[in-house]
Amino acid sequence: MFSLAQTPRCWHNAPNTAHTGAAMKHSLGPITLLYPMPALLIGTYDAHGKANVMTAAWGGICCSAPPCVAVSVRPERHTCQAIPARRAFTVSIAPCRLAAEADYAGIVSGANVNKFAVTGLTAARSLLVDAPYVEECPVVLECELFRTLELGSHTQFVGRILDVKVDEDCLTPDGKPDIARIDPLAFDAGQRAYHSLGAFVGQAFSIGKRCEQP
Ligand SMILES: Cc1cc2nc3c(=O)[nH]c(=O)nc-3n(C[C@H](O)[C@H](O)[C@H](O)COP(=O)(O)O)c2cc1C
Repeated sequence: MFSLAQTPRCWHNAPNTAHTGAAMKHSLGPITLLYPMPALLIGTYDAHGKANVMTAAWGGICCSAPPCVAVSVRPERHTCQAIPARRAFTVSIAPCRLAAEADYAGIVSGANVNKFAVTGLTAARSLLVDAPYVEECPVVLECELFRTLELGSHTQFVGRILDVKVDEDCLTPDGKPDIARIDPLAFDAGQRAYHSLGAFVGQAFSIGKRCEQP
């Protein structure tokens, strides 16, 4: 069994800080830190047919063809039984204005509470998969279960994305998702906090070409 305690904090007993000439780096050890992390709302129906929603920061796109998203869920979550039972889940992208509701979905379990009723969020029935999504969220991914991986503390569910739905008022005039209007909530695992994303920096697959210029 793999033990985190046995993992070396740094190679060859080097000190926990390394001076590269720019800034001193301090080793935090093998922690689960990455930026940005999302605050995804995973929608499922439980064994009683009750709509449930759970917050997951450990998730992201993992394949282009077929288009897939992966979410990692601890076995004790109510959601962890619901996804394989119906072989379906949805991912609703929480906007910043729903930070409190997203946090609540990550604090209490659907085993005990109807989170949709408490938060006032609306459980919309997906027509494509056997799972509900959060109507108030501007972006929704409808997924059928594609693969399941037992990783250790978490079970990773890979969902094949059957459709992505975006609110019309969050699209650019040429029909592309507008990140500024979507205003996705980001989770800061380092300080257990929520943030909005920052300003436009540059055009991807384009700004890098500047590096070749003399
Ligand atoms: C910001 C945030 C991120 C979270 N990310 C995850 C995650 O990726 N995986 C997980 O298993 N639990 C995660 N949780 C905890 C679950 O959302 C929480 O245990 C929830 O109550 C489970 O709901 P359920 O029992 O209805 O499925 C997170 C909680 C918060 C607040």
